[in-house]
Amino acid sequence: MAACVGMCRLQMKGAERIVKLGQKSDLTARRILTRSTFATKAQTVKNTPQAVVEFSTKDSISALKANCTIPSVQHEAAVPFKSRLLSLKWAGQGSQSNSSKTLEFQKHSPISVNELTRHLCKQESIDQQIQCLTDHYQLTEENISLRFLVCSLLRDIAAAYFPECIIRPFGSTVNNFGKLGCDLDMFLDLDGISGLNQNKGSGLFLEYQVKQGTSVRTITQSVLSVIGECVDQFGPGCVGVQKILNARCPLVRFAHQPSGFQCDLTANNRVAMKSSELLFVYGKLDARVRHLVFAIRCWARVHSITSSIPGAWITNFSLTVLVLFFLQRRTQPMLPTMDQLRDLADPSDQCIIEGNDCTIVSDLSKIKLQTLNTDTLEKLLQEFFEFYGNFSFSSTSINIRKGKEQNKPETTPLHIQNPFETSLNISKNVNATQVERFVALCRESAWLLEQKEVLKRSAGHSADNIPHWGLAALLLPSVAQSAGVKGRRKKRHHLASDRIKTLLESLKLSSGGAANSHH
Ligand code: CTP
Ligand code: MG
Repeated sequence: MAACVGMCRLQMKGAERIVKLGQKSDLTARRILTRSTFATKAQTVKNTPQAVVEFSTKDSISALKANCTIPSVQHEAAVPFKSRLLSLKWAGQGSQSNSSKTLEFQKHSPISVNELTRHLCKQESIDQQIQCLTDHYQLTEENISLRFLVCSLLRDIAAAYFPECIIRPFGSTVNNFGKLGCDLDMFLDLDGISGLNQNKGSGLFLEYQVKQGTSVRTITQSVLSVIGECVDQFGPGCVGVQKILNARCPLVRFAHQPSGFQCDLTANNRVAMKSSELLFVYGKLDARVRHLVFAIRCWARVHSITSSIPGAWITNFSLTVLVLFFLQRRTQPMLPTMDQLRDLADPSDQCIIEGNDCTIVSDLSKIKLQTLNTDTLEKLLQEFFEFYGNFSFSSTSINIRKGKEQNKPETTPLHIQNPFETSLNISKNVNATQVERFVALCRESAWLLEQKEVLKRSAGHSADNIPHWGLAALLLPSVAQSAGVKGRRKKRHHLASDRIKTLLESLKLSSGGAANSHH
């Protein structure tokens, strides 16, 4: 990770000037991390472009402070808690001429699906399309830096009570499957405070006085409640704070306006940290894993299989585990089982959390399996849909530890064993309707990928007018779903999109009755 030693939020003109100055002087500003996140929040700044600038050294911030006029009159009603995120305004002359060469900005939100499909249509193969999707959606290095910055800003608040605490990002920020715009999952790590037992052999025992709670859960709840209150009352730019303390994993949810991130802060959630590491390891073993996960996550979001609102939907985490399981189940397995990852571990990898064996190998060079599988992304995508289009969800549980289907231990519509807490089901929230929708969409997508008009890009169109093909065709509104909704609501609507109508007509013409055999 780049040295995020100093950050500064600036008005855009000031930001450009500082970064340009920095290229020559001691103000060594490295780059602009984000811009305009405040512009949409009318209550904060009236459409003034903003940027977060990262500096190379702490001295740069001192140099900046030495060079700036610091207003003596602050807001009268300001909470006296100073964030390290400074605001700088350029009020000098000549900004126009200095900003003639515009700086490059990294995007922090994903492109729209329409824009994405335009890019996809221009590719030459489905494999290229899948790679193109990952390129557009994955987190940039700047975005990840910004996420680490927000963790450190939050730590400043938590450190008022727990000076030795660390706030660590987990989930899609660090597991290599994060999409631009995904939430920021954070873990308040207080373990450094409890300290390890070290027997010095002197016969003297020293014990800090601490308050006893009734259970680990109640302590976690009270810690999060207090920190949540501080974030709410004192956290600059932290808005919409919700304390969700009765959840299985208690959390504080809020929006961090300067970065634009939706944040979830948890504590005592070490197993989730470990499952982020597990996903990271699987993603590192073979580049195809990430590509396939990105494609499936995008496909699922477009068809409302996943949702940004919590509910009975399949989550991205469950979806990722479904992809991993499918890759373990290939005739020539592409991924090892978790038991294999554990068996390859060194003694130093041993990790037991709350009685769960969370040991996995850290030296990835020990894992050889994936080189034997040479499936293309196109084939994997096609077969993913076939695999789950025909999967017996009603009787079987998905188990990436064993890499095998297991009998369901309970009668929930979807059972995916939690990778480390094996008695838990990560998709307990999912209802039967959502599983049926997932299966129906898998079947429809498998069918689409059998049509030659979908498989190949058609020739003779201008670059901006290529009919939807390959992955782009799979992202069009689903016919099965809109027909289902129509039937249930007894309403007569036109098909969701004229584009799909045209597409289907062309498919019917070319493939005749055989095309319906899957439905
Ligand atoms: N997690 C878990 N068990 C669950 C749900 C989540 O262990 N039932 C852990 C996983 O490590 C997951 C992390 O918590 O990666 C964060 O959860 P979430 O934000 O729901 O998933 P992400 O992987 O971060 O995906 P997204 O991009 O949708 O945020
Ligand atoms: Mg997340």
